[in-house]
Amino acid sequence: MSFLTRTKPLEAAAPADGAHRLRATLGWPHLIALGVGAIIGTGIYTLTGVAAGLAGPAVILSFLAAGIVCAGAALCYAEMASLTPQAGSAYTYSYVTLGEAVAWFIGWSLILEYTLVCSAVSVGWSGYASGLIRDAGLGIPEAFLDKGIVDVPAIFIALAVTGLLLVGTRESATVNFVLVCVKLAALAAFVAFTLPYFDPTHFQPFAPFGYGATDIDGKKFGVMGAAAIIFFAFYGFDAISTAAEEAKNPKRDLTIGIVGSMALCTLIYMVIAACALGANPYGEFSKSNEPLAHVLRQLGQPQAAGVIAGAAVLAMPTVIMVFMFGQSRVFFAMARDGLLPRGLAAVNRRGVPAAVTVLTGVIAAIIAGLMPLDEIASLANAGTLAAFMATAVAVLVLRRRMPGLERPFVTPLVWLIAPATVAGCLWLFTSLQVKTIIFFFAWNAVGVVAYLLYGRTKSRLAAA
Ligand code: ALA
Repeated sequence: MSFLTRTKPLEAAAPADGAHRLRATLGWPHLIALGVGAIIGTGIYTLTGVAAGLAGPAVILSFLAAGIVCAGAALCYAEMASLTPQAGSAYTYSYVTLGEAVAWFIGWSLILEYTLVCSAVSVGWSGYASGLIRDAGLGIPEAFLDKGIVDVPAIFIALAVTGLLLVGTRESATVNFVLVCVKLAALAAFVAFTLPYFDPTHFQPFAPFGYGATDIDGKKFGVMGAAAIIFFAFYGFDAISTAAEEAKNPKRDLTIGIVGSMALCTLIYMVIAACALGANPYGEFSKSNEPLAHVLRQLGQPQAAGVIAGAAVLAMPTVIMVFMFGQSRVFFAMARDGLLPRGLAAVNRRGVPAAVTVLTGVIAAIIAGLMPLDEIASLANAGTLAAFMATAVAVLVLRRRMPGLERPFVTPLVWLIAPATVAGCLWLFTSLQVKTIIFFFAWNAVGVVAYLLYGRTKSRLAAA
């Protein structure tokens, strides 16, 4: 078999039995909390402003479009995760179905995605933290806040989460549940505060930049242009699909968990966006790095703005934690397969893959300190879209290749949903800024060289 198409047997990715099998303790409410905890972050708290600046009031439709594509992908993830509940997510799914070359491409894209999500959420966090720092009158020079030369709060939070992971911190289900409640309560408070000021005239004109993706000075405007960015707000449900092994009733609870958290987030996002738009013209809050707090301040509610900012600052780091953790799992899986040096994924005495955690944290911090949020988020989206497409194709390939396989979770209407997901992802991908697409392929060109020089011969399948 050619090195490009060699695949790992599905059994090699099956969960271990006996002592190594995780206990099935999670019901659907836990799974929804897990999903919502990983999903809600910078996307809604900060990118809502960026996206509203690109689409105008029609940003509500951008949320809908991105949510639908993500829901399709989530269903495909659930089927693959229930068959291969092992580290590595889309990388592993590709390896058992589409072959080593595609798996490498996806793994390499996931490394980019996970690092950049950590950076983007750090920058989003900094927007709200910088607002609180200004309010507190701490006298920190503007050059070192969110709009300055170096975004020091963003660097701080990326490194702080790295430090927490290094000492072996893992978020417990209880902490996650509390933080999910904080996030949701803050968003509910936002709705309660803004609704009385709802002004429908803010929705005219509804789609000033059209419904597609139009290039203006290198940025993509319009509903789809904004959808390609706001897509960031929806992912993170990997957290649920990787918990497949721990679900009490995977078939039922995973569906409810994944579909439930996606539907819930899409609804919440559309309501929040509508309330922000109704309370403040999009041209104003879209320029803020803390758009939700900005809206409340404009309404003469500085205390409420402080509460929302406080909740964002408290709860957003959990998203960074989930993705830094995800990064180490992808590295882990790739190193175990021989495609990356094993030393990188080695765990220390506390069981933490220290080298990869420090590497991810430092690179994420540098990017967060220097790059603008919309560019970081777009590039993270490019990597994620590639992973989503691979997973949707992987489901179909496996259905064809092993039709009789017992599937704990079955994607409904798969021959409709999987191809529609691929089409939706392609649409979003081509709606990204040209610069982002070029950088994404440049990153993967480096990846191809790295693979040819290292992984092709070191792969465990090469020795087999
Ligand atoms: N969906 C996550 C967020 O919006 C990545 O922060």
